[in-house]
Amino acid sequence: MTSLTIARPDDWHLHLRDGAMMRAVLPHTAQHFARAIIMPNLVPPVVTGAQAMAYRDRIMAALPEGMSFEPLMTLYLTEDTDPDDVAAAHASGLVKAVKLYPAGATTNSASGVADFGKIRATLDRMAQIGLPLCVHGEVTDANIDIFDREAVFIDRVLDPLRRATPGLKVVMEHITTSNAVDYARAQDDSLGATITTHHLVINRNHILAGGIKPHYYCLPVAKRESHRLALRAAATGGETRFFLGTDSAPHTDANKLLPCGCAGCFTAPNTMAILAHVFEEDSAMDKLEGFASRNGPAFYGLPVNADTLTLTRTPSPKHGHVDTEDGPVTVFDPGFELNWSVQ
Ligand code: DOR
Ligand code: ZN
Repeated sequence: MTSLTIARPDDWHLHLRDGAMMRAVLPHTAQHFARAIIMPNLVPPVVTGAQAMAYRDRIMAALPEGMSFEPLMTLYLTEDTDPDDVAAAHASGLVKAVKLYPAGATTNSASGVADFGKIRATLDRMAQIGLPLCVHGEVTDANIDIFDREAVFIDRVLDPLRRATPGLKVVMEHITTSNAVDYARAQDDSLGATITTHHLVINRNHILAGGIKPHYYCLPVAKRESHRLALRAAATGGETRFFLGTDSAPHTDANKLLPCGCAGCFTAPNTMAILAHVFEEDSAMDKLEGFASRNGPAFYGLPVNADTLTLTRTPSPKHGHVDTEDGPVTVFDPGFELNWSVQ
């Protein structure tokens, strides 16, 4: 195979940030992806419909002339979220999902949820109106080992929350364990799960063996190899509940390379080339379109993009870093040559 044309892909989990960083990274997503679910963990977070509308306007203003891209906005769920505001933002077509961060789980999650009882009214309303909940699935309990936090979250938080809210559409985001894959497979169609590019490629050895690699540090942190293989099987196996959410999360090198560095892998520029490599390696090139372009829209009830993206078997140049006014941002290094390029 020397070329593959698929429906233009979407990214169902993306950090665009704001200001200078957004201006620098947005073109790299818009070049390949038609739409993306935009994470609301700005400082301060995007909590209300009015804030989401203003953020969408800033994104569209930062989009270079001639590029087409549709930001699918989300609201950051807090214990004070107003269900009526959420419903209005959904009814107007502005907001496509609500994001649940357990308080303290990751970057800018301090305003997230500590007492899950306090979001009950919002969850019930979301189930009624068919608005999906995107979940960062990690417990924040200091006593729980960081490599176990996803599996424990599923048992202690996610499953009880779903049982208490029948009909609520939930996306398990950036899953990193075979536990999450197994749980997702056992549920009905109200549950979807996104998988990042980097979790298909790295395990925890890549972060920690032979010297610490801050550019591979993200949350949820990559787990052992058996979990990576389970994610690979889920992504490349053609099961419709699994779809691409890159979690491309740019931080400047200065902020990554600190004694307490930020979590995030910046994969927007080379995700499609890496995915072509991964799916080819698993003899699943025919499943790439489902994962990147079809399963996500089906879950969200949106049309598949009418335009296309073509990958060719041409070596990709090394991506290195993207310059921003705040300093360079290193692009995720998959650790192998990229033999596919986006045309
Ligand atoms: O690695 C991550 N980076 N995981 C997250 O959950 C947040 C993200 C960010 O915003 O930097
Ligand atoms: Zn994220």
